[in-house]
Amino acid sequence: MKTEVWNMSNMIELAKVEDIPKNEMHVFNVGKLEILVANVDGEFYAVENRCPHMGYPLFFGTLKGKILKCGFHNAEFDLSSGKALNEVTGKPLRVFKLAMQDSQILVEL
Ligand code: FES
Repeated sequence: MKTEVWNMSNMIELAKVEDIPKNEMHVFNVGKLEILVANVDGEFYAVENRCPHMGYPLFFGTLKGKILKCGFHNAEFDLSSGKALNEVTGKPLRVFKLAMQDSQILVEL
């Protein structure tokens, strides 16, 4: 059995669950970071809103399940691992850990 140990001091409240409808994405500014949160059928994922291919915002992409396709040159990424899924780029997305507390979505920075 694996136990996750959370350092709550690195967690910040990002949004409420109801702020991000199912199968939609929302971008939050946290200091200089833009964090994209996607709600995939009730599962939440957080990644940097910056495509590792050429740096364009991923918010203009499309969601298909937990696969996010960049709207600029069609790089595809697995939101859970950040792994690049096609030949456009081999660079992964920056993925952030999330935690839920009541109806709050917390992100670890
Ligand atoms: S900037 Fe995203 S695929 Fe090129």
